[in-house]
Amino acid sequence: MKRPENTRIHILNGPNLNLLGKREPEIYGARTLADIEADSIALGRDLGLDVALFQSNHEGGIVDQIHDARDVAAGIIINPAAYTHTSIAILDALSMFDGPVIEVHISQVHKRETFRHHSYVSLRADAVIAGCGTHGYTLALHHMAQLLNDA
Ligand code: DQA
Repeated sequence: MKRPENTRIHILNGPNLNLLGKREPEIYGARTLADIEADSIALGRDLGLDVALFQSNHEGGIVDQIHDARDVAAGIIINPAAYTHTSIAILDALSMFDGPVIEVHISQVHKRETFRHHSYVSLRADAVIAGCGTHGYTLALHHMAQLLNDA
């Protein structure tokens, strides 16, 4: 199997995801963002990916993280949280990123309130994973490895 030259993947997380584990566990589960980070780095190692995880409660913070990814990352996995449904700025920033973008939602957003059914980020995302719990990040990393190996 051909190895991609750049194996760096940034996993970006939006507002309130810093409180995973404490935040509405019946919806978002018991795992913390630190658990997801540790799991993702370990899985990345198995997949030959160099994974780094970021989080911001601020729209501009996420835009800055996407800009930073432009210089170093081969792919972005992003859970924009509530900004999914509101942020043209995040969509525009992702549109300037050249590599694969995978959108992740822990909950099944289409089963929830109608305001969660629309995603600006999906206009750019190459794949969308929703409703798989925090396992969605694992699925996203597997798919990212596939996309980069096929590129
Ligand atoms: C979320 C779904 C969003 O609607 C919500 O605002 C979040 C988390 C998810 O992972 O299921 O904060 O992106």
